[in-house]
Amino acid sequence: MPHWNFTIRHAKLEDSGELFDLVRAIEDISPYLLDELREMNLGRSAFTARLGRLLASPNSTVVVAEIAVHDTPRLCGYLFAVGGHISGISHCVRVNGMGVLPDFRHQGVGLDILKFLEKWARDAGLVRLDLNVALGNKAAREMYLKAGFETEGVLRGAYQFNGSIQDGWIMSKILANGQ
Ligand SMILES: CC(C)(COP(=O)(O)OP(=O)(O)OC[C@H]1O[C@@H](n2cnc3c(N)ncnc32)[C@H](O)[C@@H]1OP(=O)(O)O)[C@@H](O)C(=O)NCCC(=O)NCCS
Repeated sequence: MPHWNFTIRHAKLEDSGELFDLVRAIEDISPYLLDELREMNLGRSAFTARLGRLLASPNSTVVVAEIAVHDTPRLCGYLFAVGGHISGISHCVRVNGMGVLPDFRHQGVGLDILKFLEKWARDAGLVRLDLNVALGNKAAREMYLKAGFETEGVLRGAYQFNGSIQDGWIMSKILANGQ
């Protein structure tokens, strides 16, 4: 498998079309991702509006991984980070969707996206990163553990995949107090 040089950066509004295709492609093939774009029938303009809202918010962001294929940049990974919407939870950020295209997995892209997220959150004075992950999603859980997330508890019966109910984990990382 070739090893790629990739860049991790915040998404820009101009990425919207390519990011939409990327999220849809990864949601379509990932058994433990909720198929949000298709099921919610979220079209390109609604997606662009959502991206714009996240990028304009001081405690939210969208992170992308980009590689150069024959000198042409191409997105291969993403993460949506959504900050709390009112003051009592504005220090909290929820990882609300993350994925890497299969051809670029196992090369540290996922972990680098999480490192980028963490640095951005620390610089912004944010305190808590959290996320939910389905029990069967061993790859994602291992990655989050490696990135320093800890398991807070079990989300009983939180997911339904192909008609079968499954628990999830809630995981978090606290950034304050030098942790
Ligand atoms: C989860 C996902 C984002 C990982 O992306 P990635 O770029 O391959 O991750 P990394 O290469 O940074 O791997 C980091 C660590 O995670 C763990 N990991 C990654 N893939 C794994 C797998 N298939 N099985 C077990 N552990 C795995 C390993 O500990 C790995 O460290 P190592 O390479 O030193 O062994 C990717 O598999 C994916 O897009 N999955 C589908 C979407 C999804 O499930 N998103 C998360 C929703 S909560």
